[in-house]
Amino acid sequence: MTKLQMKDEKLLPSYHSVNGAERPRKGKWGGVLLFICICLIEYFSLRTKTKPTPSCMNDMRNRFDEKNVFGVGDSGNPDNLCPLLDKIDPSKYLYNKDFASYILKDEEFRSDALKKLIGAVNIPTQVYDDMKNPNVRDTREELYKEEPRWKPFEAFHNYLAESFPLVYEKLEVEEVNKFGLVYTWKGTEDLKPVLLTAHMDVVPVDKETLKEWKYPPFNATYDEGILFGRGVVDCKNLLIGHLQTLELLLKEGQFTPRRTIVVAFGYDEESAGTGAEAISKHLVAKYGEDSFYAVIDEGNDAFATIEGTNFILPATGEKGHLNSIIDLHSKGGHSSVPPPHTSIGIIAKLIEEIEETPFQSIVTNANPVLNQLQCLAEHSKGLDHELRKNILRAHFDQDANKKILEYLSQDEETKFLVTTSQAADIIEGGVKSNALPQFVSLLVNHRIAIEESVDSTKQKILENIISIAKKYNYGVFTGEEEILPATDNGYFNYTLQEELMPAPVSPINDAVWNIYGGSLRYLYEDMMYPNDNSTFVVAPYISTGNTDTRFYWDLSRNIYRYLPMLPNAGNIHSVDEYFTFDSHLYLIAFYYYYIQVIDSLGDVL
Ligand SMILES: *[C@@H]1O[C@H](CO)[C@@H](O)[C@H](O)[C@H]1NC(C)=O
Ligand SMILES: *[C@@H]1O[C@H](CO)[C@@H](O)[C@H](O)[C@H]1NC(C)=O
Ligand SMILES: *[C@@H]1O[C@H](CO)[C@@H](O)[C@H](O)[C@H]1NC(C)=O
Repeated sequence: MTKLQMKDEKLLPSYHSVNGAERPRKGKWGGVLLFICICLIEYFSLRTKTKPTPSCMNDMRNRFDEKNVFGVGDSGNPDNLCPLLDKIDPSKYLYNKDFASYILKDEEFRSDALKKLIGAVNIPTQVYDDMKNPNVRDTREELYKEEPRWKPFEAFHNYLAESFPLVYEKLEVEEVNKFGLVYTWKGTEDLKPVLLTAHMDVVPVDKETLKEWKYPPFNATYDEGILFGRGVVDCKNLLIGHLQTLELLLKEGQFTPRRTIVVAFGYDEESAGTGAEAISKHLVAKYGEDSFYAVIDEGNDAFATIEGTNFILPATGEKGHLNSIIDLHSKGGHSSVPPPHTSIGIIAKLIEEIEETPFQSIVTNANPVLNQLQCLAEHSKGLDHELRKNILRAHFDQDANKKILEYLSQDEETKFLVTTSQAADIIEGGVKSNALPQFVSLLVNHRIAIEESVDSTKQKILENIISIAKKYNYGVFTGEEEILPATDNGYFNYTLQEELMPAPVSPINDAVWNIYGGSLRYLYEDMMYPNDNSTFVVAPYISTGNTDTRFYWDLSRNIYRYLPMLPNAGNIHSVDEYFTFDSHLYLIAFYYYYIQVIDSLGDVL
């Protein structure tokens, strides 16, 4: 688990309620509390029984009108806040119109894909927080002497080279910072390249939990349609899916990309992210800033059913992050003659001050949370009337905005989508029962809301510190800077750690989003659930955790964090990580056509 990112936080727990763990709760407007009312498709029991047929794809042919890529969809109302994206029928952009029956139904392809994914899972690319950046030594051999835990990553590289011979023969393969991998399929034209990313590392398996696994975590096992193993979802399904897609395109030999395709895999997303950082530097040096058509990474998956409507929710933003470190230096002394408040007591006062002044909730139209609510208001028929009205007015009407904030604040999970959090997580201080503590240290963790910044978060905490310092006569420093002079009692020293601004929010009013969302609609409506009439609304979403994309901001404005999958997946970072293996094939099918769609619509950008 990373310091910056707890993967379980990436989705609301409610979005994880694949197994029905979360029960709906009543909201103020009598409706079921929006984000909690997630009844995933299991409840429809559609699952994988419905298989796509070539005829359904024929029906869809020619429905997509290219000029509508810029339009507002088939909603017919240009003023609406969440136009339904036009579904993109990929068949007219593909050389092999029958791709779905091959990828989804061919037994040989399926067993090969399963075998390759199992092989990848069985190489234990566990990454630990205390592993050194591979750049500390010049060669891998020297690095292994210091840090043998990097060795499986070399085995993983070798495995990929053996398993995907055409990719390694025909594409440029670069190693970045020893273990990062960048594949480049050079396009014939000068169009912005697309960047598809994943990571090869997995969260370590705690030895204590080994006996709780149904199947050994690094002996991935297929059991009645489900694949179990560490990293099957996070994130080897995606990584192997990308390589399978490229290998298939190369094997068929009929696709020559106009737009360069870059596929990049980091090696420590679950810890420090030095892999993605190095890859990003490499790509910025090679292509320049803002040089990519889009960056598409792992993220939340499948879809959520809210108020009876299905939503595909690629994350278009991520909250920021900060650790506030507050040290209190004070004079010592014998505990037999203590002052009214020891330094531990003063820190306790500070914690109280911080907790009694929580960050304000705020939601503007810049926040994907509001955009997501607008989509709900426009497309969920059963939504409470009053709630719908307030959502649609919240971007210009203060009262409505306040009501929406109250609504979101009823639930901790939704509250912190629109509020900077503050959690006093670590406290250290005091050494002896007969000595006054001379040094106390407090760590407060923050996840920064879209409308806030590292600086505004720092200002708020600094105000809390100054208020306590003045009251109890202490000085205040921020690093070397003196805010209030040290007193005889001592001083606070406030420093920042792991600063990360909220991610720039990706636009949802441009062709890149429309094509991505329109392509996803096709996957769910026409390939996964062709016999169901439900519409899948594509809406933006915000993550409270961070993926490797936190290093890719410079490369593109259009960053999406999302896994096209069937709903049945779970236990990420935990015992018995699993998913429905068919998801892997759907993911390959999606990227197979998406790559060709954005190549044909290449003149767009
Ligand atoms: C790994 O799983 C296979 C079945 O998938 C099984 O036959 C084999 O015994 C397992 N090996 C270990 C070491 O558990
Ligand atoms: C505050 O802490 C930082 C980081 O440990 C340190 O560099 C700085 O010198 C400290 N300032 C004071 C006044 O102690
Ligand atoms: C799907 O929609 C069509 C036309 O709108 C309708 O005839 C059909 O009965 C619907 N099927 C289901 C399963 O709802």
